[in-house]
Amino acid sequence: MFIKKIFHKFFDLDTKKDRLFTKELKTKNIEILYDKEFQASINEVKDYTLLDTSRLANLWILSKLSNPKGAMIEIGAYKGGGSLHISNSNPDRKMYICDSFKGFERIDENLDDLFKITDFKEATEQGVRALFNNKNRSFEIISGFFPQSCSNKKLQPISFAHMDVDVYKATKESLY
Ligand SMILES: C[S@@+](CC[C@H](N)C(=O)[O-])C[C@H]1O[C@@H](n2cnc3c(N)ncnc32)[C@H](O)[C@@H]1O
Repeated sequence: MFIKKIFHKFFDLDTKKDRLFTKELKTKNIEILYDKEFQASINEVKDYTLLDTSRLANLWILSKLSNPKGAMIEIGAYKGGGSLHISNSNPDRKMYICDSFKGFERIDENLDDLFKITDFKEATEQGVRALFNNKNRSFEIISGFFPQSCSNKKLQPISFAHMDVDVYKATKESLY
């Protein structure tokens, strides 16, 4: 009990609840939530992404901090909303959108217990293409299991990558 109290005090957690709650968010202090372009983007992509507002805010800010001469890539795009959001934050940059469109290649039952081999099979390349149509963006959809899906492709230099493939094998291989 003593150790738990010290732990909670050290990390500024609420000891009254038996869960790891951090301090309550004061949204009025989070400037990005009032950025009109950010708001428009999250409204546009919300039905096509699993990412929550805080992750979308991180992607918005971090991608803008990356080298503007580089292209951007999302590995694990699912229905494409996250990719479109990253592209919305940097509309003049090339966006590579990678997904197997078949879900996972392999799941390790010891390491990937949050996921099932049947997950994410419903997304389609055509669905993602439709999201980007009429947006006047430079983009390329790379269908197949990454990184093999890129083995015969010459990609432009990339300065921002969002890896969101969830499972151990795909994440490890994507880092090489
Ligand atoms: C959590 S979803 C991605 C969510 C997405 N970023 C969004 O904004 O909603 C994970 C995706 O990774 C894809 N995936 C898993 N392993 C992959 C691999 N080796 N290569 C390409 N895509 C992969 C799945 O098909 C699935 O669509």
